[in-house]
Amino acid sequence: MNKSPDTQRMEKIVSLCKRRGFIFQSSEIYGGLNGVWDYGPLGVELKRNLKNYWWRVMVHERDDIVGMDGSILTHPAVLKASGHVDTFTDPMVDCRLTQRRFRADRESVSRKDSIRLALLVSDHRKFNLPTPKVDPSSVFKFFIEFADKMSAQPDILKDDVENFRKAYVSGPAASGDSIRLLQRKGEDKATILKRADAFYQLRNILIPMLSPSTEEVTDSRDFSPENGAELTPPRPFNLMFRTSMGATETEDSIAYLRPETAQAIFVQFKNILEVSRKKLPFGIAQIGKAFRNEINPRNFTFRSREFEQMELEYFCRAEEGMKLLDYWLGERLKFYENIGIGRDGLHVKTVSDEERAFYSKGTYDIEFDFPFGRQELEGVAYRTDYDLLQHQKASGKSLDYFDEETKQRFVPHVVEPSAGVDRAVLALICEAYSEDEAPDEKGKMETRIVLRFHPRMAPIKCAVFPLLKNKEHLVAKAKEIVDLLRPHMNVFYDESGAIGRRYRRQDEIGTPFGVTVDFETLGEKDADLRDTVTLRDRDSMKQERVLVKDLPGILVSRIT
Ligand code: GAP
Repeated sequence: MNKSPDTQRMEKIVSLCKRRGFIFQSSEIYGGLNGVWDYGPLGVELKRNLKNYWWRVMVHERDDIVGMDGSILTHPAVLKASGHVDTFTDPMVDCRLTQRRFRADRESVSRKDSIRLALLVSDHRKFNLPTPKVDPSSVFKFFIEFADKMSAQPDILKDDVENFRKAYVSGPAASGDSIRLLQRKGEDKATILKRADAFYQLRNILIPMLSPSTEEVTDSRDFSPENGAELTPPRPFNLMFRTSMGATETEDSIAYLRPETAQAIFVQFKNILEVSRKKLPFGIAQIGKAFRNEINPRNFTFRSREFEQMELEYFCRAEEGMKLLDYWLGERLKFYENIGIGRDGLHVKTVSDEERAFYSKGTYDIEFDFPFGRQELEGVAYRTDYDLLQHQKASGKSLDYFDEETKQRFVPHVVEPSAGVDRAVLALICEAYSEDEAPDEKGKMETRIVLRFHPRMAPIKCAVFPLLKNKEHLVAKAKEIVDLLRPHMNVFYDESGAIGRRYRRQDEIGTPFGVTVDFETLGEKDADLRDTVTLRDRDSMKQERVLVKDLPGILVSRIT
């Protein structure tokens, strides 16, 4: 069952990300660039750990996959052939009141929850006043009085009244000037009429005479989710970022920022096949940036305009396609479990025939329970031979494969697991975030925020603390341990504040291990304990005493 959204939890996560340097809004000091994010010192480590692990299991640990790194700037012919220039669109609708743009394929909100009735506001007259400084109600009053006088002395003032009418009153409203507004639960009619008023004021209709009528509606999708105002009919909107290459901007200088990494793989298929001398089935993997002009970037980094993908195109014979689709779904689910995203929080959606791309014979979405709802983390799609055939046709260059055993030539089919780096980072943070209770310096229980990252993913693997910062020998020993560990992992040295506070700071950023150098380490209390330290586990908070020389081995075995 879908869990209900937990806004409070999401707010805490977003605030922690900023406070501790995981993720910042891009260009924040200038008010921010919507849908674009920067990763801070901890975020970049987490992201690298994720990408490195993906590369390790998808490329280094396999004989049948090689990597590539394609360019971001893409030839328009590539994206014309792939279908992106003509069909990579979202249906968009605009709010008639605020002009805010939304995707048209939002889900309808349940009628019971939010829709009571819609107001059809119409039958007003336009009062186009030349200067907005004039108080419309006083002009209106003046006009009425004027008209009264006119009827008393029709001949004297007739021309003046006609001039006034021409200047201020432009006749009954055209039908496009009426607006339907949704009255949502808890909203009274006066609020809705105020919105209608605002709609007319924006059109310089300063004194709308509203005669609203009401009707029942069944679908909230026709109305803005922000204010209930009517939306325009859907129009297609291309999501690609276009740029111009070279000194002059002409039709011939157009290039696109790639909307997915996959196309570079298809276009380089022949080159890579030749240099790698792989036999089917084999794959080409790539990690890199992709760009989409998303209309509603939202849910923190979940839907961004600039993001990274980790994509594999796994080429095969047609008859292997469906079996490999299931194989890759299984591999990808294992991957998420190995980075600490439990199977319970993951859901496999079989994409229906209607929702699937027309060329795909089967697609799964791997979804995750984010605090804002269940959403796609990765797609695993059997794309048939569509992409290679399209590029072969458009370029006129052969993209086929020669099977030496059967002596046959054919264009391979492909299965594609396509994951979003930023979505996986966000899922890692959401999955790891937890609050529990731990004793403070005086033994009083307090709330502890912990990021329970899998040690493999944690930005900092081990923190090293001298018990006291003003004891030269403790500090020197702790720094020695830092140097011992540094070649193997990302280590953090901290000598400031009480030891409990230092643990807490590391718990909050998910550091799985803490090493404390104390007087036992120096052999001052018990000669047998010389060159031992306490090793603390973030989750259980248990401490064990280990030999300094064993530390690299113990820790490496727990973080790889
Ligand atoms: N080559 C196939 C492809 O690009 P997609 O479903 O459009 O398929 C694959 O994208 C993955 O890329 C998604 O599952 C998601 O993780 C990530 N992704 C797509 N659009 C994104 C966006 N606007 N922001 C962040 N991640 C995105």
